[in-house]
Amino acid sequence: MPKVLVVGAGGREHAIVRALLRTAAEAPEVHAAPGNPGIAADAQVHDVAADDVPGLVALAQGLAVDLVVVGPEVPLVAGLVDALRDARIPAFGPTAAAARLEGSKAFAKEIMIAAGVPTAGYETVTTVDAGMAAVTGYPVVLKYDGLAAGKGVVIAEDEETARATLVDMLEDHQFGDAAVVVEEFLGGEEVSLLAICDGVRAIPLAPAQDYKRIFEGDLGPNTGGMGSYSPVVGVDAARAREISAAVHQPVVDELARRGTPFTGVLYAGLMVDDEAGTVKVLEYNTRFGDPETQAVLPRLQSDLLALSAAAAGGPEATPGGLEGVELRWDPRWAVTLVLASRGYPSSPRTGDVIKGLGSTPGSVEVTHAGTAIDEQGRTVTAGGRVLNVTALGESPSSARQAAYATAQGVLFDGRQLRRDIAERAVERFEG
Ligand code: AMP
Ligand code: GLY
Repeated sequence: MPKVLVVGAGGREHAIVRALLRTAAEAPEVHAAPGNPGIAADAQVHDVAADDVPGLVALAQGLAVDLVVVGPEVPLVAGLVDALRDARIPAFGPTAAAARLEGSKAFAKEIMIAAGVPTAGYETVTTVDAGMAAVTGYPVVLKYDGLAAGKGVVIAEDEETARATLVDMLEDHQFGDAAVVVEEFLGGEEVSLLAICDGVRAIPLAPAQDYKRIFEGDLGPNTGGMGSYSPVVGVDAARAREISAAVHQPVVDELARRGTPFTGVLYAGLMVDDEAGTVKVLEYNTRFGDPETQAVLPRLQSDLLALSAAAAGGPEATPGGLEGVELRWDPRWAVTLVLASRGYPSSPRTGDVIKGLGSTPGSVEVTHAGTAIDEQGRTVTAGGRVLNVTALGESPSSARQAAYATAQGVLFDGRQLRRDIAERAVERFEG
């Protein structure tokens, strides 16, 4: 029986665990570190933190796993995949050198330019004056050059906000070599197109859209993501391959040329402007998206474990394992709702008791993100994003209705749930 270790503790990792189990031709033994109470119901969890690189290598060795699948960005940027490879353990995820695409916005821009990927005009600055001089009009986008858990981007509508933001990013949080990317504002439809990469080629997954702001109507601060759906109207399989050839493949080629081949998931955050006929990259992530994964993977029919293992390339990390692979997808729509805690994203409250986590219909699944079991054995909130509800349906509206019907019944004090997730899909699909 193949053995796999999934690193991470969120809704994304729970969805990965479920997909590994559901799609495998040969049922794998699935382990997770550190996991969460939902993951513990599907896999064997181990109390090793997702950023404890030596601890995770020791765990993978002790379990003698055939593959490690890394969920979050922090261990990737910290070199977990490099350490696993040194120990000759196959790993699905990029090395630290390749994960800089996510770890540094300035590096990502440099690669995009070198690879000829369409992206917004920008300048990288290290002083407030240089930043103000780089602004060509409002709104302007200011991005902190480092990992900021999705919270390092500010869209400034005017000069005053731009200056205050630059002061905040460059002067009040001095990290030695702090830098900010000052970027042209792009209009259009945001699409997340992820690709699975084997160091040589990129194969696109089904497209998704996510909802980043905390409040309905895309208002309020950015979050890690409040919901998602897949697929996306206007991006069919042929279009996805065409976009992928323009936004994933050149980056995979460029990193291979630099001697740091990319294996794992390359996530392109895109702005698709149908009027202008352009697709531009807003950002890369070097991992599965959260909560896109919760909507995309339930639709995957191909064997995720076999795909990840082929991409990882065995103990030698041999590139090119995905040659000839064609992915199969459930044609149904998937809608994912995020149930977040009171105070998220600024100061999430924990410890609220969750009720209504009973059984769900077969086309609906509840995955755990920030949950814990308290001393009395109750499932309680333990983070900002608490649970995800994903439903499959023949249309966006039926998937949506099924997801909300289940989410309504999952209750905890202060629960935040956006009511407009996938409304966009309904409008565009039916309108
Ligand atoms: P990022 O972390 O770079 O994806 O930025 C977070 C969010 O800010 C994106 O999902 C977009 O909604 C928005 N954003 C980032 N860059 C731009 C841009 N150049 N133009 C318009 N919106 C942007
Ligand atoms: N959903 C956005 C992300 O995973 O970064």
